[in-house]
Amino acid sequence: MMRLSRLGSWAALLSGMMIGLSGCHAKAALTPQQAEGKHLYDARCAHCHEFNDLALKKVPPNLHGVFSGATLPSGTPATDANVVRTVLSGRGMMPSFAGRFTDEQMAALLAYLHAGIR
Ligand code: HEC
Repeated sequence: MMRLSRLGSWAALLSGMMIGLSGCHAKAALTPQQAEGKHLYDARCAHCHEFNDLALKKVPPNLHGVFSGATLPSGTPATDANVVRTVLSGRGMMPSFAGRFTDEQMAALLAYLHAGIR
């Protein structure tokens, strides 16, 4: 009886660990589309939005989790359309990227930003 209940608690501990591990894995993995978006983000957006390498007075906002609230930093609704408009038209010190991304690349960029992870 004693042995059995100890086995049971080991089993519970082990399955708890496995759930923990798979949860962690699911969070870290990007889909191929999100991974393409991350590549574009790293190449085109990160130098400003992560590092502000031009030392802009208006510090480019952190875009990780930009879709997790109701509004973008400017206060406009956090929708795909408004992010696409920002990218295509620019905003303040942010340049326009009109013609720089294909539709597929734009979709990948949005998918990455929706993932909200690095
Ligand atoms: C030259 C630096 C620079 C680059 C490159 C840049 N941004 Fe920005 N971005 C800014 C600045 C500065 C702001 C703040 C603009 C403002 O509100 O005046 C901004 C704001 C934004 C916002 C918030 C808009 C809002 O309504 O609050 C989004 C979304 C955004 N950028 C996305 C991107 C994406 C995606 C890329 C890459 C394709 C990118 N930016 C590249 C400088 C940059």
